[in-house]
Amino acid sequence: MCGIVGYIGEKQCTDVILSGLTKLEYRGYDSAGLAAFKDKAIETRKFKGRLQILDENIKHHPIESTMGIGHTRWATHGAPSDVNSHPHTNEDHSIVVVHNGIIENYLELRERLSKNGYKFTSQTDTEVVAHLLDELYRGDIIDAVRQMLSIVKGSYAFAVVCKNEPDKIIGVRKDSPLIVGLGKGENFLASDIPAILPYTREVYLMQDDEIVVCTRDGVTVYDKDGSEKPIEIFHVTWNAIDAEKGGYEHFMLKEIHEQPEGIRKTLHYMPEDKDEVILGDVKITKEDLQRYNKVYIVACGTAYHAGLIGKYLIEKYARMSVEVDIASEFRYRNPIVDEQTLLIAISQSGETADTLAAMRLAKNNGARVMAITNVIGSSVDREAQDVLYTLAGPEIAVASTKAYVTQLVSLYAVSLHFGLLKGTLTKDEYIALRRELYHLPGYVQRIIDLDKKIQNIAKEHKDKEDMYFIGRGLDSYVCMEGSLKLKEISYIHSEAAAAGELKHGPIALIEEGTLVIALCTQDFLFEKMLSNIQEVRARGAYVVAFSKRSNEAITKEADETFFIDDMPDDITPIPTVVYLQLLAYHFATERGCDVDKPRNLAKSVTVE
Ligand code: F6R
Repeated sequence: MCGIVGYIGEKQCTDVILSGLTKLEYRGYDSAGLAAFKDKAIETRKFKGRLQILDENIKHHPIESTMGIGHTRWATHGAPSDVNSHPHTNEDHSIVVVHNGIIENYLELRERLSKNGYKFTSQTDTEVVAHLLDELYRGDIIDAVRQMLSIVKGSYAFAVVCKNEPDKIIGVRKDSPLIVGLGKGENFLASDIPAILPYTREVYLMQDDEIVVCTRDGVTVYDKDGSEKPIEIFHVTWNAIDAEKGGYEHFMLKEIHEQPEGIRKTLHYMPEDKDEVILGDVKITKEDLQRYNKVYIVACGTAYHAGLIGKYLIEKYARMSVEVDIASEFRYRNPIVDEQTLLIAISQSGETADTLAAMRLAKNNGARVMAITNVIGSSVDREAQDVLYTLAGPEIAVASTKAYVTQLVSLYAVSLHFGLLKGTLTKDEYIALRRELYHLPGYVQRIIDLDKKIQNIAKEHKDKEDMYFIGRGLDSYVCMEGSLKLKEISYIHSEAAAAGELKHGPIALIEEGTLVIALCTQDFLFEKMLSNIQEVRARGAYVVAFSKRSNEAITKEADETFFIDDMPDDITPIPTVVYLQLLAYHFATERGCDVDKPRNLAKSVTVE
């Protein structure tokens, strides 16, 4: 949700800002803008639409400047337009602000500032902050920002510059990510690490309510009372190339192809030379597990779908009762949470506002909070008591793929670990399962190699406006993920139905030519799925089925069949979902959709 880049140094700031914003465009692409110091003034350029428009503008009319801030926007307050784009300024353009997040009390502030004579030009909540800073400014912009923090309510990350103090960029954050990149004779602010990786690997991960002041020569961090704080430097070990397209047409395709490697890395939690699971920073003991009478898994979107499979695994292997909740529901439904509760939050970005709120609610009620996240240093990482990292590497495409499969591998590790600790799983059972899990990278690679076949399905059916995914047991959860992936990037309406539920309503939607994706990977439910396939075909559906190779009977019932290798039922979701990811990808490209930047969406949902 919105990307921020700030630069102060010796380089042309527009080059650094535009290159940083390119890396952050996944966070929002409704508009882009920047502000740069030039000749003792601040020049602002901002345009509705993709970053490319700003880029072209700067190419044709360069700004000579070595300090500035930039922004790529996902609209919250006010439609995407030039005027609502960031940066926003006070009336004489001496104070300039870019913002990620939401100012909850902006209406009240806008009314008060209007009464005091301030004129607003946009519909955004951010403009309020520019005028508020103007009202508070008495010759010290740091002081004005500090005062502003006690007035604004909401979640935010800001970068602020002031014409009268041309030697500093100020950053603040609360519940929205902001990091500082430390260079030699230059410093950076950004919403996410990839934006600054071409220049430095030394990063400071800002905490809530801190104020950071970046000058050319250094970075100073203050707490909200104005006391200076020590800077703990985080050295980024992953490569800038990891966050580049690397020859693939889209990030999503690249990330699908990276899945065997992500799985392989995450499997290290279950080392082959030991008969135990080693979860690093997860310190939950056997005694803890005996105390918990309830496990909640909370997450949003794709991570929620991983949680549904997590519930199945933890209940099966650790015999603990698990509830899975959508974080935005959990936080508002007064759940029963106490010291005997373990809450597991799953989040790729580690910055999802609802997931964080759910974690805080649980913590405030005495629960132990564990997180599964892909981003070291993210808010989820910092606020959880126990953390397990999915080792997927940076995920850039809005549609989550490699994060999902590594979340699943992590959930196998967690459930098997809990099972071993509790004694509900024997060492031999564990070793047998682990052996199977280690085949997953190969199974997934074989599916990726069938890419062209999947593309043909998409070519043939690309004009469909509706699609249905049906499955039973674990397959029904994979259907939910496949359906989400398809709708978010191809805009085809789709629904996932537990196949046993068809007769209770959804089958009414099936008519001649309806495309139905049927997942039939669960051996003990196979016969039942065959009946469900017959039922939808009898009503005219065209069925594409996915099944284990040994269940050949399926070829007689379905119009087309794709196979996964023979493997235990419990691990089929990982290879199966890869088929569905590729299917969604090809439907989207065949329909000419912008795969990596689907409409209305952004990566990392830092607002409610
Ligand atoms: C869908 C997708 C989203 C995210 C959701 C949660 O492809 O990516 O549904 O899964 O916004 O995001 P995280 O995992 O960052 O909390």
